[in-house]
Amino acid sequence: EELKIFAPATVANLSCGFDVLGCCLDSVGDEMLIKKNDLNEVRITKITGQDLPLETNLNVAGVAVKALLKKLDSNQGFDIEISKRIKPGSGIGSSAASSAGAVFAVNKLLEEPYKVKELIPFAMQGELLASGNAHADNVAPALLGGFSLVRSYCPLEVLSLPVPPDLRVVVLHPMIEIKTKDSRSIIKQNVSLKSAINQWGNLGALVSALYTEDYELLGRSLQDEIVEPVRSILIPYFQELDKLVAENGALGFGISGSGPSVYALCKGDENAQKVKNAIEVFYSDKNIDFDLHLSSIN
Ligand code: HSE
Repeated sequence: EELKIFAPATVANLSCGFDVLGCCLDSVGDEMLIKKNDLNEVRITKITGQDLPLETNLNVAGVAVKALLKKLDSNQGFDIEISKRIKPGSGIGSSAASSAGAVFAVNKLLEEPYKVKELIPFAMQGELLASGNAHADNVAPALLGGFSLVRSYCPLEVLSLPVPPDLRVVVLHPMIEIKTKDSRSIIKQNVSLKSAINQWGNLGALVSALYTEDYELLGRSLQDEIVEPVRSILIPYFQELDKLVAENGALGFGISGSGPSVYALCKGDENAQKVKNAIEVFYSDKNIDFDLHLSSIN
């Protein structure tokens, strides 16, 4: 018994929703092949595309699956093969794709003892290994699709939000690696009341905009005065890109997850293509390798 799955990339935070908001990209992701084995062991048998640990306890997919099997008190063994297309340290949920994909497939092969939403805590164990923090804003949308909002971590409560149909995402990945662990360590631990007011105003407006399909409001709400000012310093040409995508009609712009990837939300394919082209031209003479993706949210 085996299952081949697509494990999607995700954009976490979306500026105003640090650690609580994320969305799922439908055209960027890894492939995984999961098979039952008779060895009572979870094995990472093959990883192509990236140099990542094969040792089960050091691999996010291995750790997430073991957490699930432990809860079920099952000693069923699994072999996991991962074909990585998402680069680790890129800021589009590489570890989350592997953790979420693995628990999703294993749950299917076990004939679904859990609902998909109930898999989030197991996938979060992979995030804990990867970044030192069990955040859910990548694994939740990777499992559930669309937009996910973490209303509460303790107890865990995750909501799915609607996706306005014309929404597109352009993601630029400048090829410098920023480890989530490192980019979390530089964030200030205290927030002023003034900043908190602005942030929750924007997050509430963003949720409203998704429900009402108000693209302009969505764009205005993509602001972050708490984390972005600190993290953006690590991202080459962040301010210039912000200005460039605005000039080309993007709705909004910010850091994808913990960076270095940045995202622009756009209305419609035509505008997204225009924004993507403008970024491509701008970055081409900067002596930094990069990847560019245009995706829907699904
Ligand atoms: N919310 C997390 C962070 C996402 O920004 O650190 C990491 O991808």
